[in-house]
Amino acid sequence: MTVSLLDPYTGPHLRLPNRVAMAPVTRGRADDATGVPHPAARDYYAQRASAGLIVTEGIWPHRLGKGEPGVPGLVTAEQAAGWRAVTGAVHAAGGRIFAQLWHVGRMSHPLVLDGAAPVAPSAVRIEGEYLHTAAGRRDHVTPRALETAEVEELVGAFAAAARAAVGAGFDGVEVHGANGYLIQQFLGTNTNRRTDRYAEPTLFAREVVRAVAAAVGPERTALRISPGSTDHAIDEADPRTVYRALLADLDPLGLAYLHIVERGAYCALADLRPRWSGTLIGNLDGPEPTTREAAERAVQAGLADVFSFGRLFIANPDLPARFAAGAPLNPLRPTLIYGGGHEGYTDYPPLPTPAHTP
Ligand SMILES: Cc1cc2nc3c(=O)[nH]c(=O)nc-3n(C[C@H](O)[C@H](O)[C@H](O)COP(=O)(O)O)c2cc1C
Repeated sequence: MTVSLLDPYTGPHLRLPNRVAMAPVTRGRADDATGVPHPAARDYYAQRASAGLIVTEGIWPHRLGKGEPGVPGLVTAEQAAGWRAVTGAVHAAGGRIFAQLWHVGRMSHPLVLDGAAPVAPSAVRIEGEYLHTAAGRRDHVTPRALETAEVEELVGAFAAAARAAVGAGFDGVEVHGANGYLIQQFLGTNTNRRTDRYAEPTLFAREVVRAVAAAVGPERTALRISPGSTDHAIDEADPRTVYRALLADLDPLGLAYLHIVERGAYCALADLRPRWSGTLIGNLDGPEPTTREAAERAVQAGLADVFSFGRLFIANPDLPARFAAGAPLNPLRPTLIYGGGHEGYTDYPPLPTPAHTP
């Protein structure tokens, strides 16, 4: 039987009305001083509650994990209260929502971190890329290498933020291990030059996932990875071996799902699907937004159970209904992606409701 993106999905821990997930997309609208989500975030996410699953924008689990202006946190009571309003609105609209926990590691700047240096597995600076700060674009600085005890504390910070997330009403937590940020900086060859036990590339990822699973239950714990991606100057010499080892360790835990961003030369979905017995959410990261057709092909080929869409969901709050109707899609307004308020955030129109015929 052919599976469609619009078919319901029942996995070991997830029951979704369709296989069209909203990918995590940073919108930079949180209060920059407090890290509290923008009050309009509740409408923004509730408008997208028809997604099979919503994954929030990246949220910092530790104050040094913030990488850009307007990125929200999940550390303080005030931040948790902001998220409580979001989860309440999404659930009232019939949706399901996981919080993405995002520590950027070296991808930050003292201007974003109240003067502190960014931290990373090793003191390796990114060359030839800029970082966006409230004062404009800046060159990267050399990060400070984390002490072993600090790495252990960060594992605890992820677990604490996961507890706060579930306390704030989230259905679960997605650990951001993708796209060149802290966890992938441990997985990468050029960024992890450590000599302590965290020199083993998968150890930090494994400890974070296990700590989160111990804190909130494996059925509420997910991991996002982008094997072989060179995003933000990460170099992985042998992604096949590293990610196979990571999955061999994590698969038996029975997590909510694994989210794979396919990007780069290594065909991660094809290689890793047979090595993951739980739910797999696929994502294709390329210069153009992922199309329904590409996602359908991947799901029909058995490469993923569910597919996530980022850019299409920013512009189309009712994406599953548009797919179902074969309706045209709203274009994305690129200048309104990051920062600001309602404009470009909560004002993308849904399809007109069909007139009621008596
Ligand atoms: C504006 C924007 C913000 C993003 N923010 C995040 C993020 O916070 N966390 C993350 O894991 N990926 C993030 N991504 C990557 C998306 O989740 C996704 O992998 C990418 O957009 C490809 O999917 P698409 O073709 O459906 O847009 C972001 C992408 C965009 C365009």
